Amino acid sequence: MGNRNFITAARVADIPPGTGRTVEVDGVWIALFNVEGTFYAIDNTCPHTGGPLGEGKLCGTAVACPWHGWRFNVVTGRREDNPDFEVACCEVRIKGDFVQISLPPGLSAP
Ligand code: FES
Repeated sequence: MGNRNFITAARVADIPPGTGRTVEVDGVWIALFNVEGTFYAIDNTCPHTGGPLGEGKLCGTAVACPWHGWRFNVVTGRREDNPDFEVACCEVRIKGDFVQISLPPGLSAP
């Protein structure tokens, strides 16, 4: 915490409230969501069999994996129906017109 690198991942205007997308941050695929104006970022890779969470439908703070429908809370990274499954969360900040993401330790390019 504190001295992590924030990397520009998207323009604020490109991700309207209620939507998300997959972005690339330093070689890692991240799912970025706009929940009523607040941005959240989680690991894009669904822990089930690897579906792209950034392409899932966002409903409130939950995103449904587009492959088999597991739902994850984009704020906590936990699976809604079984919190034993979770994805890593990233710090997000807004800098001007841009959304910037800081990868947590352990989430790095292969
Ligand atoms: S890969 Fe995400 S629910 Fe199956």
